[in-house]
Amino acid sequence: MPRLSDRRLTALAQKAWETWLFAYAPYSQFRVGAALLAADGRVFTGANVENPSYGLSMCAERVAVGAAAAAGVRSFAAVAVAGDSTSGLVPCGACRQVLAEFSPDMLVLRCRRDGTYEQMRLRDLMPSPLTGHAIEASDSEPERELELAAR
Ligand code: THU
Repeated sequence: MPRLSDRRLTALAQKAWETWLFAYAPYSQFRVGAALLAADGRVFTGANVENPSYGLSMCAERVAVGAAAAAGVRSFAAVAVAGDSTSGLVPCGACRQVLAEFSPDMLVLRCRRDGTYEQMRLRDLMPSPLTGHAIEASDSEPERELELAAR
């Protein structure tokens, strides 16, 4: 992936702030907006969506990944995250894992309210994500074992 221009990254950060406005966060009052830059140049957005059953709340980053994946996108260059935190926000561990499934080397922009951002690599935030290889079927055949045991 060629180096991304500052202009493109600044626009991505701005898009994250625009989406932050739409966050549904009546329980935490903590709004988050995310903008994902796909490898083909398209941008997909997400905001956190909370629920009174707190555990059902969805993070902005994963909402954005869902929108992009449902449009057939599988490769990302960057994600901008805009949150109410004064120091800026990095994706939570669950979101790092989900982002890494598609593009473990993508850029992460930690956005500040003044429109600037800090750049980091997802690889540095999530050095060892769980991958599909880790859950490949082993040689043991638990179903067959149970069948035999039941005889
Ligand atoms: N949240 C996100 O949307 N993204 C993050 O990276 C951190 C946390 C949301 C979840 C919850 O709705 C609220 O922020 C407070 O944790």
